[in-house]
Formats: sequence, structure tokens, C-alpha cells
Amino acid sequence: MSSNDATQKILIVALGVCLVCSVLVATAAVSLRARQERNKELDKVKNILQAGDLPTRGVDVLEVFREQVRTVVVDLENGESLTPEQYPKGFNPETFQIKEAADSRVWGRAIPAEKDIIHVQRMPRYMTVYEIIHDGRIVKLILPIYGKGLWSTLYGFIALGENLSTVKGITFYEHGETPGLGGEVDNPGWKASWKGKEAFAADGRLALEVIKGKVDTREPGAVHQIDGLSGSTLTTRGLDAIIKFWLSEAGYGRFLNSLKERVPHEG
Ligand SMILES: Cc1cc2nc3c(=O)[nH]c(=O)nc-3n(C[C@H](O)[C@H](O)[C@H](O)COP(=O)(O)O)c2cc1C
Repeated sequence: MSSNDATQKILIVALGVCLVCSVLVATAAVSLRARQERNKELDKVKNILQAGDLPTRGVDVLEVFREQVRTVVVDLENGESLTPEQYPKGFNPETFQIKEAADSRVWGRAIPAEKDIIHVQRMPRYMTVYEIIHDGRIVKLILPIYGKGLWSTLYGFIALGENLSTVKGITFYEHGETPGLGGEVDNPGWKASWKGKEAFAADGRLALEVIKGKVDTREPGAVHQIDGLSGSTLTTRGLDAIIKFWLSEAGYGRFLNSLKERVPHEG
């Protein structure tokens, strides 16, 4: 056998191996995609339950969600919640995805630059929010929130209590901030520090803020303040903007006001 023949054989075998491997990888990627999407969706549901302080361990997460959580579709423009009959044609809350909706020409809209403190450019026209109901009363309202940190867009939920002001929990189910720095948004201790904080002051003004550094608990304003993440000023600023955007007129402000008018809440 000449050296040319040998080289040819090596190339054929190498190409064959490459072809087989690429087919295997492509098949695995395609067949796993559905499962990955399902797991992602399950993780989102888990985060909704965690934000609302509902159990997620040793339970069927989807069952807890079905039994204790009511999904409500909100028109962010006028703050009205829609009954299923009022859903715009083609809107399905079960398949609703923030990113897709925001990017869509039908379901999303541009955020005017001067209002875009969360640096995402676009937002959905309608949002699915989640209510935990007990004895016919909304005991917790769980609102999806998102916005830019340093490296990534953070996606999460904030839960408000019955008075639509007391924070009951916060979680982030997707972000790309640095572990140990901006990634400390996942730190259970830091997340727990949000509980009991008041989003709104007695005069109704939005007062919740994520500050740089540690909250001085002796100050009267401390009830509205959250510790910033140390060494992560930029993620901290992003979190502060996320809260301010979503709890104001730009986000859920009109919806929260209409809920406050509709349901007699205690202060
Ligand atoms: C590898 C690397 C990763 C970083 N990740 C983050 C991050 O996730 N969030 C953040 O705010 N700052 C992060 N920083 C720091 C920022 O670059 C910047 O220095 C910091 O936000 C300033 O915060 P400070 O004023 O609290 O020091 C990172 C820096 C390096 C070198």
C-alpha cells in the first residue's frame, strides 16, 4: 500500500468518525430540547411558589401550583386584569414567555428610552401575574420582574402581601451574573432580607430601594431598604432599577392601583 492510500484511508475514517459524532450530538441536542424546555418551565413554576412561600420540596410542584395559585392576565397599559373571555385573540397564558412576548410586534412594545431604566428596550403588553387566594382573598400577589444587571438580564418574581406593599419574597430563575458577586441574588439569606420590607410609604409613594452597602436598621427608612450586593455595584443598581420600574406606572403601577381600589385592603 502506498503512503497516499494510507493517508486516504485515515482521512476517510476520520471523516466517518466526525460524521457519526455530529449525527449523535445533533440527535441528542434535538431530543433533549423538549425535556430542557420542560425543566425550565418547571423551574419557573418552582420559583413562583418559592416567591410566594409555598412548598416546593417533596411535593408535586405543578399540583401545588394548580391548587393554590391563580394565573391572572394583566393589560399593563391600563392596569386591567382580563377574564379568559377578554384575552386578546391568540393569547395563551400557559405558553406565555416574557422574552418572546416582548420581542413580538403583536404582544410587545418598545419602552421609551427615557423610561427604560432596566435597559431592556422592549416589554410585553400583557403579563401573567399570580395570585395566591385564601377564603376568596388575595393573600399574595406574585409579579414577574426583569431587567439588566451587569452581564445579563435577570428574570424573577417579587411577591407582595395582602396590603399590596409588604414584600413576601423575591426569586430569580434566570440570570448570568458572576457567582459570588452579582450571582449573590440567589443567596437565601439575602433573599430572606426582603421579607417584611414595605414597597410603598404611608403616602402611597414607591419607596422600596436596593442601596449600595448595608442598611442601617436604626434609620426609619430601613423598612424600605435592601442591602446591596457587596463588590457588585452594577448588579445592585440593576436590581434597584428593576424594582423601581416594575412597581411604578411603567410596570404594574396601574394594576396595583386598580387592585387597591377594588379590594378593601388594610394598610
Ligand atoms: C470577573 C469579574 C466579574 C464581575 N462580576 C460582577 C457582577 O456580576 N456584578 C457586578 O455588579 N460587578 C461585577 N464585577 C465588578 C464590576 O466590574 C465592578 O467593579 C463592580 O460592580 C464595582 O462594584 P464596587 O463599587 O462595589 O466595587 C465583576 C468583576 C470581575 C473582574
